[in-house]
Amino acid sequence: MTEKISFRSTSRTFEVGGRPFHALQNVDLDIADCEFVTVVGPSGCGKSTLLNIAAGLVEPTGGEVLVDSRPVRGPGPERGVIFQQYALFPWLTVRQNVEFGLQIAKVGRAERRRRAQHFIDLVGLTDFADALPRMLSGGMRQRCAIARAYAVDPGVLLMDEPFGALDALTRVQMQDQLLATWGSERRTVMFITHDVDEAVYLANRVVVMAARPGRVHEVIDVDLPYPRTEAVRLSPEFSRIRNRVWRAVYHQTPQEGASQ
Ligand SMILES: Nc1ncnc2c1ncn2[C@@H]1O[C@H](COP(=O)(O)OP(=O)(O)OP(=O)(O)O)[C@@H](O)[C@H]1O
Ligand SMILES: [Mg+2]
Repeated sequence: MTEKISFRSTSRTFEVGGRPFHALQNVDLDIADCEFVTVVGPSGCGKSTLLNIAAGLVEPTGGEVLVDSRPVRGPGPERGVIFQQYALFPWLTVRQNVEFGLQIAKVGRAERRRRAQHFIDLVGLTDFADALPRMLSGGMRQRCAIARAYAVDPGVLLMDEPFGALDALTRVQMQDQLLATWGSERRTVMFITHDVDEAVYLANRVVVMAARPGRVHEVIDVDLPYPRTEAVRLSPEFSRIRNRVWRAVYHQTPQEGASQ
C-alpha cells in the first residue's frame, strides 16, 4: 500500500509559562492512500495539533509530516480541512460556498457549476442549493462544508470533530452520508472525534492517543466490512472492537507497553 500521509517523529512543543509543554512527542504514523483513519483520545492529547500539522496550519518543532512523500510546508489545495464549527461564508448561498474554492483554483464557470452541483447532490442538499447558511440546520451546514471540501478534489480530507455539535440522530445520518460519499469518491481521510462509536463505525483503523506527552498510544484495526450498515453497528464484532477502543482511551496506564 502506498502511504499518503506519513508523520515521522513529529513533535510539537509549546512554551507555557516559560516552560516547554510537549503537546506531541515523536508521533510516527502512516496513513495509506484512500484509507479512513479516525483519531480518538482524551481532551488535550494533541489530536487537533496533529491534524493542524498535516494541514500545514501548525509547524512541528521536531520531525515532519509528508503528504505524497513531500514535506508539508503550509496549507495546500490537495488537503481539504473541515473544522467543528461550520466555516461557511454566511453571505454566500450553498452553491456559492461550494463553488468558492473552485473559483480560487480558477476553474471555469461551467465546470464550476457542474462540479458544485455534483457534490451538492451527493450530500443531499439539492433543494437547498440557493439557500443561505442561516436557513440551514447544523447538519446541513456541515454537509455543505463537506461538499465544499470535496469539490476542490483534494486527495486528503482532514476533519476535526466535524459532527461534534450535532445531536445523536443527525450525527448518525451524517456518518452514513460521509461514508456514502467516501464510498463513491475515495479519498484519504483523517477524522478526529471524541465519540468511540463514531470512530469505529467510520474507520479502517482507529488511532488512540494519550496525553502528557501527546503520543500514539495504540492503533486498532477495524476489521468490519463496508458498506457499514445498521447490522454492522449492532454486530458483536462491532461491540468487541468498540470495547477495545474504549479501554484504550479510558483506561490508559502511565506505563507504556504494559500488557493488557
Ligand atoms: N498555541 C498553543 N499554545 C500553547 N499550548 C497549546 C497551543 N495549542 C495547543 N496547545 C496545548 O497542546 C495540547 C494539545 O492541544 P490540542 O488542541 O491538540 O488537543 P486535542 O487533543 O485536540 O484536545 P480536544 O479533544 O479538547 O480538542 C493542549 O494541552 C493545549 O493546551
Ligand atoms: Mg481538538
